[in-house]
Amino acid sequence: MNIEIIEIPKIEDYRGNIAVIENDVVPFDIKRVYYLFDVPSNSHRGGHAHKNLIQLLIPLSGSFDVVLNDGRENQIITLNKPDKGLLIKPTVWRELENFSSGAVCLVIASEVYEEDDYIRELDQFLAYVNQS
Ligand code: TYD
Repeated sequence: MNIEIIEIPKIEDYRGNIAVIENDVVPFDIKRVYYLFDVPSNSHRGGHAHKNLIQLLIPLSGSFDVVLNDGRENQIITLNKPDKGLLIKPTVWRELENFSSGAVCLVIASEVYEEDDYIRELDQFLAYVNQS
């Protein structure tokens, strides 16, 4: 599976911790940062793959599950620690579900938003990964 867990360096302090993301933490040049918040319970996000974009998902608050499929295998990863992110490389189908109340998902991306980079139909994704 084209994914990796990234440990975000942190400065621990009894007054509260600081996690710092600089370019050496993320294996791409950062082009865009966005975040998901106010996600209703039982809501699903994602449901697509990218052709080229790489992204790092970080659960800033709360938790959620990332359901992954690379056309060969499935994997579910629960993100619930703000200093552990999930790097998703291209051609991995992802769905985000089971959001806890108040969950916030930070996304750091290697590209600006471009609809042409998305594959939004699962059967098209499976055809895309199986053609190579
Ligand atoms: P999408 O990436 O499908 O959301 P998710 O995977 O979290 O369910 O984006 C939802 C909508 O928002 C879609 O119409 C595209 C738009 N959008 C932008 O215009 N810019 C962005 O940077 C993002 C992430 C989404």
